[in-house]
Amino acid sequence: MQVWTVVNQKGGVGKTTSAASLAGSLISQGYKVLLLDLDPHASLSYYFKVEQNSSPNLYDYFLSEADTDVSKLVKQTRHTALDVLPAIGSMATLDRQLGQAEGKGLVIKNLLAHVKKQYDVVIIDCPPVLGVLMVNGLMACNTVIIPTQTEYLAIRGLNKMLQTLDLLAPMMTEKPVIKIVATMFDRRLKACQQAYKALRQEFKSLLWQGYIPTDTKFREASQKGLAICDLDATSRGSFAYEKLCNDLLKERRQ
Ligand SMILES: Nc1ncnc2c1ncn2[C@@H]1O[C@H](COP(=O)(O)OP(=O)(O)OP(=O)(O)O)[C@@H](O)[C@H]1O
Ligand SMILES: [Mg+2]
Repeated sequence: MQVWTVVNQKGGVGKTTSAASLAGSLISQGYKVLLLDLDPHASLSYYFKVEQNSSPNLYDYFLSEADTDVSKLVKQTRHTALDVLPAIGSMATLDRQLGQAEGKGLVIKNLLAHVKKQYDVVIIDCPPVLGVLMVNGLMACNTVIIPTQTEYLAIRGLNKMLQTLDLLAPMMTEKPVIKIVATMFDRRLKACQQAYKALRQEFKSLLWQGYIPTDTKFREASQKGLAICDLDATSRGSFAYEKLCNDLLKERRQ
C-alpha cells in the first residue's frame, strides 16, 4: 500500500484539490483508494460530502487508539473504490491536548496498519500548520506531494517545508519520494513563467516536470463533490492531474 501525503505549511496552494483530483485519477484506473483528512477544517470531507460528526471519529482515535475501532471511522462515497476517513473540528485542539506526549507522531501510521490490505493508495490531506497533525501525515507516508502556487513568494515557504522534512527524515522508516507540484499556473502570465523557471532552478529534480494549470473547473468540481476527471475528463486540469498521478505511480515502481 502506498501512502501519499499532500502537505505545505502555506494555505490555499491546492492541497485539498490535489488530494481529491489524484484520488479521482487513481480510481478511474481501477485502484482502491482511501482519502484521509487530517485538516480540522475538513475541506476534503466536505468535498466528498461524507458525514463528519459521527462517533467514534479521528479525534477519539488520537486520544485513545486502543479503544477505537478503525473500521468505524471510514465512510463510503458514491464510488465503491473510494472511501474517506473524515476530519472533525475538535482535532484543532490536539496540539494543546497531546503536547509533547511520546509516540503521538505515529498515530496515523499505526491506524493505516489496520487498513493496509484494503487499499492500494492512501492519500492524506494535511492542514497548513506545522503541528501534531502534519507530523503524523508525514511520518505515515512514503510519498510527499508539496503543491505550491507558481509565484516567487512561494519559494520561501517551500524552503521552510523542506527544512521540516529534513528534521523528520531520520525518524521515518522509509526515505520518501518528494515532489513539489506547481499549481495554478497561468501560461499567459509572464510572471508565472518566470516563477516556474525560478522554482526549477532552486529545487531542480524535486520539482515535478509538469504543472497544474489554472482551471475554473476545479471550483465547479468541488461544489458538486466530484473529482475533476468525473466532472470533465477532457479538461486541462484533469489531464494535468492524470499525468501527475501516473508519474507518481511510476516513481514508486523504480
Ligand atoms: N489549479 C487550480 N485552478 C483554479 N483554482 C484552483 C486550482 N487549484 C485549487 N483551486 C481553488 O483554490 C482554492 C484553494 O484550493 P485548496 O482548497 O485545494 O487549497 P489548500 O492548500 O487545500 O487550502 P488550505 O491550506 O486552506 O487547506 C479552492 O477554491 C480551489 O477550488
Ligand atoms: Mg486544504
